[in-house]
Amino acid sequence: MSGIPHDHYEPKTGFEKWLHERLPIVALAYDTLMIPTPKNLNWWWIWGIVLAFALVLQIVTGVILVMHYVPHVDLAFASVEHIMRNVNGGHMLRYIHANGASLFFLAVYIHIFRGLFYGSYKAPREVTWIIGMLIYLAMMATGFLGYVLPWGQMSFWGATVITGLFGAIPFIGDSLQAWLLGGPAVDQAALNRFFSLHYLLPFVIAALVAVHIWAFHTTGNNNPAGVEVRRGSKAEAEKDTLPFWPYFVIKDLFALAVILVIFFAVVGFMPNYLGHPDNYIEANPLATPAHIVPEWYFLPFYAILRAFTADVWVVQAASFLTGGIIDAKFFGVIAMFGAIIVMALVPWLDTSRVRSGKYRPMFKWWFRLLVIDFLVLMWAGAMPAEPPYSDIALIGSAYWFAYFLVILPILGVIEKPKPMPATIEEDFVAQYPDAAE
Ligand code: HEM
Repeated sequence: MSGIPHDHYEPKTGFEKWLHERLPIVALAYDTLMIPTPKNLNWWWIWGIVLAFALVLQIVTGVILVMHYVPHVDLAFASVEHIMRNVNGGHMLRYIHANGASLFFLAVYIHIFRGLFYGSYKAPREVTWIIGMLIYLAMMATGFLGYVLPWGQMSFWGATVITGLFGAIPFIGDSLQAWLLGGPAVDQAALNRFFSLHYLLPFVIAALVAVHIWAFHTTGNNNPAGVEVRRGSKAEAEKDTLPFWPYFVIKDLFALAVILVIFFAVVGFMPNYLGHPDNYIEANPLATPAHIVPEWYFLPFYAILRAFTADVWVVQAASFLTGGIIDAKFFGVIAMFGAIIVMALVPWLDTSRVRSGKYRPMFKWWFRLLVIDFLVLMWAGAMPAEPPYSDIALIGSAYWFAYFLVILPILGVIEKPKPMPATIEEDFVAQYPDAAE
């Protein structure tokens, strides 16, 4: 399947042969587990496993939470309190699920930025990247829907603001918003459908993850040097790779163990640190909170959404050119989704022949600035929408778009890359001379 020569599963006993001829499932598991993996992978390559673990953790804790949760506007908030106080281990279960979402997003952001630095999105891994982006969108939707379920103040007002964005779409906006909510406002119909979809989407994500893994098993992993595994002969391929089991499984499990120590310290000692106190007040459609702030993982894109106000010249230009159809609110929505779309299109926007950022002296600096930009946007998203924060958010948003649409296309043409290793083996030996035989 991978095109990299390696040992394949051979059924030995009679039963193995019998099963293999009918369903080669053991061969599939064997080939997946023993897949030749570039031996120079560094610690940035552990986050895929952390993500897979987080997904399973969310599904398992979620399924048990549902056994005690009631999706009704009069009972949802109380049922969550009931889980926290009366259900055996309920507070642990809820805190793991709530903080598990944060772990999931932390991992996905590191995973995405890893891909952006090492050029993992470049040919032939564009499909892996696009599937990844679909996973990310599905994660955002799942996170948003889940946050509504406890029916606290932030649940209610967050849902009101976010579904209001769809209302900003010209012509169809109002009908679309009413259709999404099942009525004119966030109420029982909305809670019911949000609950249903919050339960469904993680399984869609699981299916997408299977395709994601299938895609990068087809091309083989990228690696820090960004050069491909040699595919000419089995002997050459073996010099560049090690089987996934046991080498990378043990490495990934070690990293996961360290991360889980930190995760459970947060769950145990500061479970509400990342939450908002207003969500411990039951939803009240008559009392709007002073600041409606989404969860931390939405903040960078929330900052982009709010950055484009009516006094920004591009917004005014767009409004003038479209005869007012594009107003500031709709522009913000376009910018927010646009910020994700430009990231999804990066395989075609990056013109560099060199894959790994390690050998791109100019790129490195722009990339570092992108990471800082992302963090600044995250901070700005949590601040009130007024100067100087709104100006900072605007500059941050402009850089985000400039990075993908201007800087990456130009850098590929003007930059002179540094010398690169010819093979993964060479890169590996240079880094670990003692490990070389
Ligand atoms: C539930 C979410 C996800 C899971 C479970 C997952 C899992 C994995 C795993 C296990 C790998 C192998 C290497 C590694 O661990 O880094 C991988 C590679 C990759 N992922 Fe993800 N991923 C997820 C989301 C994403 C997202 C949102 C993106 C961004 C678009 C993405 C882009 C990539 C790319 C480009 C690679 C190839 C890099 C390589 O081959 O080393 N993934 N993913």
